[in-house]
This record gives sequence, C-alpha cells and structure tokens, in this order.
Amino acid sequence: MTLKEDASPDDLRALGDMLAGVAHEINNPLTSILGYAQLLLARTDLPEEAREDITSILEESRRGAKIVHGISSMARRRGGKREICDISEILADTVKINAQRISQTGIRLDLSLERNIGRTMADPGQLQQVFMNLITNAVQALQRKNSGERSLRIAARQRGETAVITIEDTGPGIAPEHMARIFDPFFTTRERGQGMGLGLSLSRAIIAGHGGTIRAESRVGEGATFRIDLPIVEPAPIMSYEAEPAGKTPPGKGEVIVVVDDERTNRDIFKRFLEGRGYRVEAFSNVEDAIQALPGLSARAVISDFKLPGKTGRDLYAHLGSRHPDLAKKFILISGDVLSEEVSRFIEETRVAVIEKPFALDRLAERLADIIHR
Ligand SMILES: Nc1ncnc2c1ncn2[C@@H]1O[C@H](COP(=O)(O)OP(=O)(O)OP(=O)(O)O)[C@@H](O)[C@H]1O
Ligand SMILES: [Mg+2]
Repeated sequence: MTLKEDASPDDLRALGDMLAGVAHEINNPLTSILGYAQLLLARTDLPEEAREDITSILEESRRGAKIVHGISSMARRRGGKREICDISEILADTVKINAQRISQTGIRLDLSLERNIGRTMADPGQLQQVFMNLITNAVQALQRKNSGERSLRIAARQRGETAVITIEDTGPGIAPEHMARIFDPFFTTRERGQGMGLGLSLSRAIIAGHGGTIRAESRVGEGATFRIDLPIVEPAPIMSYEAEPAGKTPPGKGEVIVVVDDERTNRDIFKRFLEGRGYRVEAFSNVEDAIQALPGLSARAVISDFKLPGKTGRDLYAHLGSRHPDLAKKFILISGDVLSEEVSRFIEETRVAVIEKPFALDRLAERLADIIHR
C-alpha cells in the first residue's frame, strides 16, 4: 500500500478501519470455503481427480487467506496498544517508506531480516515510529558525509527470547562528549529549527515501555550503530490454516461440545466435522441461548466466536468462569480478527486456546482432544 505523504492521521485511520472491515468480510466466506473443502477432502469415496480439484480449491483459498491476513495486519498498524505483530515486517515496511530518501542520498542499503523472528505482542505503530527515528537519524548523518562510502545496514535477528535490531551507518559518528546525552530530551546538534532533539528520547521511552533497551555505539569518523534488544512476548498459541497437519487424534466418545457461532455455515461445518469424529455438537447462534441451555447439557468443551450479536465471546467466557469454572478451562475461541486490539487483549489476558479463522479442522480435532482429556 502506498500512502500519499500528505494524508492526514484521520485519513489513515479511516482507511485502516475500512481495510480491516473489508478483510473481516472476506474472511467469513473464506472460512466456509476452506471448511467445506476440508470436509470433502476427508471423504474416502472420492475419485482421485476430484481430490486433486479440491486440493486446488484449498490451496487457492489459503492463498486468499494469506492476503486477507496481510491486509488486516497492515490496517491495524496504527495506534493501538498490544497486538500481535511481526517485527521484521514492520521494519521492512519502514525501510520501504524511506526507500526514496535512501536512494536519493546515494546510500548503499544492506537489509538483513531474519525470517520468523516470531510474532510478538507490541504496539506496531510505536515500533514503526522508533525505526523511523533511527533510520532518519542515520540518513541525516550520511547526508553530512562528504567523502567515502555511504552505507546503511539494517538487521533484525532473534537471539533466544530477544529480537535484536541494529541500525548501522557509516556517517561521521557521534562525538564522545555527546554520547552520554543523545538520549536526553531536547539534546540536538542540529542547527536551530532543524531538529527538536526528541527522536531518540521518544524511541528510548517506547522501547522501555516494551521492556527492551536501546544503546548507541560510535567511532568518530567511522559511523554509529544503534542496537535495540526487544523481548519477544509470545502471544497465546494460535491455530490457523497454516498449522502443521495433525497426527493421529483419538476420536470422541459422544462428549457434548457446545459451539457458538452466528454464521450458519460455520455451525454446519463444526457439527458435521465433529460429529464425524464421534462428538455430539450443540450449536447456538448467540451467547444468550447457549447460556440458557448450558445447565442441562453436561458439556465437555465450548467453542465460541468472539464477535457475536448481543453478548460476545468474552461475555460467554466470563459467564463460564463464574458458573461453570471447569468449562472455562475448556474454552476455545474462534476468531477471524485476532489482530484487533479487543481480541488480542482478551487472548493475552485469558490465555485461552485460539483458532484463527480460517482454520484447519484437523488441528481443531487435536486441540479439542487435548482439552477434553487433560
Ligand atoms: N546516526 C547518527 N549519527 C550521528 N549522530 C547521531 C545519530 N543519531 C543521533 N545522533 C545525534 O544525536 C542527537 C539526538 O538525536 P535525536 O534523534 O534525539 O534528535 P534530532 O535528530 O537532533 O532531532 P529530531 O529527531 O527531534 O528531529 C542528534 O542531534 C545527533 O547529534
Ligand atoms: Mg532524530
């Protein structure tokens, strides 16, 4: 996505909301397509040719799901507090925004982003702000350099539970007498009106707010290196269509599973799949009906959507906590919107099991068996 530089924050927010809404709307039918395709593929009476066609349907809709996922994570990139986000992706996007400035300055860019740094719970907008400040400083430093190579090295890697991000330039470097002060608010060596001296102090505050550290190293005449150590905060385990295929999962023995989803197709998919696996499914389209029926059901697990008309998945979980505490431990959240602030906060607080829509039915069976027998 390219945005005009003069887009106002309100424009951006409106665009983000719209994209998130579109992604959500596409995700629901995709979930049904993937669900039915998985049900079909599980049949043993299909001719080989049909299996191949269905496999193509599955692969293509997974491709669609990836795109939708990308759109919604991009849309959520503004504001917010703690969301699941991908550090490499944010860094790559920030570099992209600066690409023109970097090439106009004649800078050789060396970008080395380790894949799968892992998703972490963070504020993606704030992280982007930090990367932006550091890259801006480096570019400004390189612009002051009159001879020799101008190069900028940006790297992200994972070391244990920490993401290490380094931004290294071959600019003039930082004078030793300034080193102790560069992170102070309003410390700047720029000419009057050029800089506020706030970039680094703000960055340090943001990184500290995420439990991390930021440090500078420099040799005058050779350049400066800024290093961020950011602890990786594991989101609750999320099962999605990308999950590993399951091994052998023991079938159910008539255990009652409560399903709450306002999409008829989802209820149908859950019912057919789980009953095919030996469970008994009681499906409801809203939380109120489920709550009313619960006392008579001796349910062994609850699978619920988050966004529902009327009471939400959060309300249902809270009700279970107070009235059926054993069942609260056997709660599985299904959501197409795990990146939204509301849902990711719920997951972080409760650490409930989550299935991200669209989902792999085999993984659901596996998780359900785990939960019921633990
Ligand atoms: N990569 C760098 N190379 C050399 N000096 C740097 C580098 N990054 C920061 N500095 C020094 O640290 C000072 C403080 O940086 P900071 O980003 O906080 O403020 P600023 O860039 O001066 O102003 P602002 O970011 O508010 O526009 C800079 O004025 C500069 O002297
Ligand atoms: Mg700055």
